[in-house]
Amino acid sequence: GYDIGKLLATTGDTTYDNGFANTAVCKSAITYIDGDAGVLQYRGYPIEQLAEKSTFLETSYLVLYGELPTQTELDEFTQKISRHMVIDERLRELFRIFPRRSHPMPVLSAAITALSTFSTDTIGFDAERVDAATHRLMAKLPTLAAYSFKNSLGSPTLWPDYSLSYIENFLRMSFGTVTEQYEFDDEVTRALDVLLILHADHEQNCSTSTVRLVGSSQANLYASVSAGVHALSGPLHGGANQAVLEMLASIRDDGISVADYMGRVKDKKDTTKLMGFGHRIYKNYDPRAAIIKKHADSILGKREGSDQLLDIALELEEAALNDDYFVERKLYPNVDFYTGLIYQAMGFPVDMFTVLFALGRLPGWIAQWREMVNDPTNKIGRPRQIYVGETERAYVPMDRR
Ligand code: ACO
Repeated sequence: GYDIGKLLATTGDTTYDNGFANTAVCKSAITYIDGDAGVLQYRGYPIEQLAEKSTFLETSYLVLYGELPTQTELDEFTQKISRHMVIDERLRELFRIFPRRSHPMPVLSAAITALSTFSTDTIGFDAERVDAATHRLMAKLPTLAAYSFKNSLGSPTLWPDYSLSYIENFLRMSFGTVTEQYEFDDEVTRALDVLLILHADHEQNCSTSTVRLVGSSQANLYASVSAGVHALSGPLHGGANQAVLEMLASIRDDGISVADYMGRVKDKKDTTKLMGFGHRIYKNYDPRAAIIKKHADSILGKREGSDQLLDIALELEEAALNDDYFVERKLYPNVDFYTGLIYQAMGFPVDMFTVLFALGRLPGWIAQWREMVNDPTNKIGRPRQIYVGETERAYVPMDRR
C-alpha cells in the first residue's frame, strides 16, 4: 500500500536498492566477474587456469597477497599454516558440549568465535597481527570443520597430521578413525582441492559482504569470519548444493520423468525450480560449473548409486539448454549444480556441504577483510532505509488500548 515513488521523493538523496542489486559498496582488486561472458578471475588469473594448474593453498596465497607465490614463499606459507593446525585442548573440549548430531555449520561458527578467545592476535590491526590471525584461521578451520563433522557423527576426533597436505589432512581428520589407517584416493584429494579453489572468492556475495560489514566496525577477523559462516548457512546462498541433491533424489525416488519435472518448473503453478540453475550475476554458463562437471564423471564412477543421480543431472541440463524457457531467461547451471553430487560421492553427508563451501571461501573472506582494513578511506557500513511506519502519534495509556 505504500507509494515508493512518494517515499523516495521525501527521503532526500537515499536510493532504494532492494538486495543491493545495483550498489557497489567497495572498490576491490581481488576478484573480477563478467557475468554475461561467464568469466571469473582471481587477481587477473582465469579460474580455468587456476583449477587446472594451482593448488588451494597456492590460490589462497594469490587471493590473500595479490601475486602467485614463489616456491620459497609458498613453502613458508605452508609451514606457517601447518604449525597452527592443532587447537588448544580446551577448545577441543568445546565440541563435547554440543548435542550429538548438531548441524556442523553453527558448531563451526561457534568454534571460530571461541577460537578468538585463545588468540592474542585479535587485538590490533597492524600487519603482523593480521598475518598471524590469517595463518591461524587458515590452519585451524579444517580442524574445526572436521571436529564439527565428527561431533555430528558422535565420533572421536583425530589430531592433525603435519606430514600430510592441507587437503589430505582435512580428509583424514574427517574420515579417519583412531584405529584404522585412512586410505587416500588421489582423485578425491585433487577433486576437493579443485572444488576449494573454485570457491576461494566470489566478490561481494552475501557472506563476503557480511564479513566486510561486521569488519567495518573494526570488529576483529575471527568475529567477522564467524558472522560470514552464519550468512553462508542460508539455503539461498551456500545451502543450494543441498537443495540440488534433494531435487535429484526426489526425481529418482518418485519416478518422475525429466520432461514432467521440467514441465512443472515451467508452468509455475508452485514454487518448483530447477535448483542449481540461474544466477544473479552469471547470464551464461557459470565457469565454475563447467570445471566441476569434468571432475564429476571420475569421482561419481567410484560410488554405488551416484551414477543414477548424475545421469538425471545430465539429462536435466541437456533438456534445459535446449528449452526456450531457460534459453530466453539465460538460465545456466551454477556452481551448485554438480558440487553436492561430488561431495556425496566423497562420503560427506548433506549437512557438511556448506561447511566445505566455508573452507573454500575462507581465503576470500580474509582477503576482503584485509583489503578493507588496509584502506584508509574505508567507512563503517551503515545502509539507509525508506521508513514506511506510522507517522507521529500520541502515547495511549494502557486503559485506553
Ligand atoms: N528454475 C526455473 N526458473 C528460474 C530459475 C530456476 N532455477 N531461476 C530463475 N528462474 C526464472 C524466474 O522464475 C524468472 O522468471 P520470470 O521472468 O518468468 O519471472 C526469471 O528466471 C528471472 O529469475 P530471477 O529469480 O528474477 O533471478 P534472480 O537473479 O533474482 O535469482 C537465483 C537468481 C536466486 C540464483 C535464481 O536463479 C534461483 O532461485 N535459482 C535456483 C537456486 C540456486 O541454484 N541457487 C544457487 C545460486 S549460486 C550460489 O549462491 C552459490
